[in-house]
Amino acid sequence: MNIDGRPYRTIFPDADGISVQVIDQTRLPFAFEVKRLATLDDAAVAIRTMIVRGAPLIGVTAAYGLALAMREDPSTEGIARACATLAATRPTAINLRWALDRVSANLRQIEPHERFGRAFAEAGRIAEEDVASCRAIGAHGGQLIANLHKAKGRPITVLTHCNAGWLATVDWGTALAPIYDAHGNGVPVHVLVDETRPRNQGAALTAFELNGHGVPHTVIADNAGGHLMQHGKVDLCIVGSDRTTAEGDVCNKIGTYLKALAARDTGVPFYAALPFSTIDWTLRDGVAEIPIEERDAREVTHLTGRTQDGGFATVEVVSPGSPVANPAFDVTPSRLVTGIITERGVCEASAEGLLGLYPERRRAA
Ligand code: MRU
Repeated sequence: MNIDGRPYRTIFPDADGISVQVIDQTRLPFAFEVKRLATLDDAAVAIRTMIVRGAPLIGVTAAYGLALAMREDPSTEGIARACATLAATRPTAINLRWALDRVSANLRQIEPHERFGRAFAEAGRIAEEDVASCRAIGAHGGQLIANLHKAKGRPITVLTHCNAGWLATVDWGTALAPIYDAHGNGVPVHVLVDETRPRNQGAALTAFELNGHGVPHTVIADNAGGHLMQHGKVDLCIVGSDRTTAEGDVCNKIGTYLKALAARDTGVPFYAALPFSTIDWTLRDGVAEIPIEERDAREVTHLTGRTQDGGFATVEVVSPGSPVANPAFDVTPSRLVTGIITERGVCEASAEGLLGLYPERRRAA
């Protein structure tokens, strides 16, 4: 996708062939900086501190992190150690474990001296596949928006939560890919962007992306969505997912569930857009089984932003001494999800729906 007319990806190999570059998302939207990751530790820190974030991008970064680890220690124990380090960085997004399983299975079949090259190439393949998947999600979801536009005969307003755009993937995004597709095809679309407390991925990242690509949008406070749905101001909700169960329960950024409840009450269709790598086929009941990351209380108690003189400042916003809880994700049960948009098409949020798109999993089950 574009920033000021220039195409970018969130992660790409450095010209030296032994490291990768990532966009530092902790600096957006006020500063655009690229960071070089050269070691396992660089990759683990980038994921843990959210220099990179978003389920598919975390997966690709972890794959590159395992490759970088192979330069330091290509032994079989080195593979296990690197996987353990990377897997511990963020527990909810399943793409991370999926990518580590895929690359490590590959590495165990070859000699240690071949492992860095193989892992680096495999991480590159995962990145390319992610771009293709997101592009296909965009085409399928874009058709949904185009159909709605045809039926209603007016611009379509889509509400989204968190950042599930190209910054959360390698390119295109998941929830935003249908919006980019529709916009690119001349379908008039307006995006309502939830600010997404506590880290404000909507206000900082989704708004930045949509600005950069010229897509009309309005940032709203997280609590405004239900009201806007009641007043007919939302045609459709599309969110991403960090893990989706085999039964179609959708885990996504905290606050998503409340939007799904409001959407159900007001008759607004609610879709989740996600690639194959986000489906955890081993889980059925998302509320009971998906581990929810609990993050630092400081994300709730403090806010960082730009000051009038162009500097950055962090300020405290919670009564000092009050205890704080900060669960980072929630689960929307499949009964509240109108459909799941994947790279293979749109399906019902159910085991049958998902198996219809991925029949090879029926044989594996
Ligand atoms: O904590 P984050 O910023 O990594 O959370 C990201 C989200 O919840 C996205 O909506 C999710 O990864 C959707 S898929 C692009």
